[in-house]
Amino acid sequence: MKIAILGTGAVGAALGARWAQAGHAIKFGSRQPLSERVLEVVEACGTAALAQSPAQAVADAEAILLAVPWPVARITVTELGNFGGRTLIDCTNPLVADLSGIELGHSTSAAEQIAAWAPSARVVKAFNTASVRVMNDPRFGDHQATMFYCGDDAAAKMIAHQLVADVGFEPVDAGPLASSRYLEPLAMLYIHLAFKQGWGSNSAFKMLKR
Ligand SMILES: NC(=O)c1ccc[n+]([C@@H]2O[C@H](COP(=O)([O-])OP(=O)(O)OC[C@H]3O[C@@H](n4cnc5c(N)ncnc54)[C@H](OP(=O)(O)O)[C@@H]3O)[C@@H](O)[C@H]2O)c1
Repeated sequence: MKIAILGTGAVGAALGARWAQAGHAIKFGSRQPLSERVLEVVEACGTAALAQSPAQAVADAEAILLAVPWPVARITVTELGNFGGRTLIDCTNPLVADLSGIELGHSTSAAEQIAAWAPSARVVKAFNTASVRVMNDPRFGDHQATMFYCGDDAAAKMIAHQLVADVGFEPVDAGPLASSRYLEPLAMLYIHLAFKQGWGSNSAFKMLKR
């Protein structure tokens, strides 16, 4: 699949490398596609990747990952204009600057805001409830870490499900996009556990069933 990744930070670099290993073609959309740092991110993906401007990167993408800080999510998607019904995977968490909480919740979510700002995209929430360290290796012994996803479009969710599995997570469908109101606070719980309660970033959520 042709995947555009908006943002070449920790999440973009980690998922880009995992998806490239799984055989996908990656185009990073970056403000500085020719910078040394971005070229290193591209090189880490092997030959299946390149970096361009955000508009160039999304031009022929079949799926797009939004991996920018929450405060620039709106400008990033509105500058791109028409998504033509393509899948937009949102991994943002609407954190306040000191990471002590989230800006939104209960009555809306970052994912729903992004869907409102990009009405021509089929938005799916995913990849917001684990650390980059876990994205790099979601396997814990015999277990795969769980990655929740949610959205309102069945076809877009199928794409997200496959891309979650391709990273090595156990995909769990959390329902409609409004379930982001649960997944974003869940990310806050993860951050609290990892950084305040001593679990560290080499820990992950796992759904169990019987
Ligand atoms: N880090 C985690 O463990 C983690 C886990 C789950 C979800 N998330 C969420 O994933 C998103 C990305 O997180 P991250 O850790 O990858 O962030 P990051 O390391 O700060 O990278 C964000 C990237 O966004 C791009 N960007 C575009 N406009 C920007 C601006 N005005 N200021 C700063 N960066 C800008 C930059 O790429 P260019 O310079 O190439 O444009 C930058 O490298 C966030 O919303 C975060 O909440 C993070």
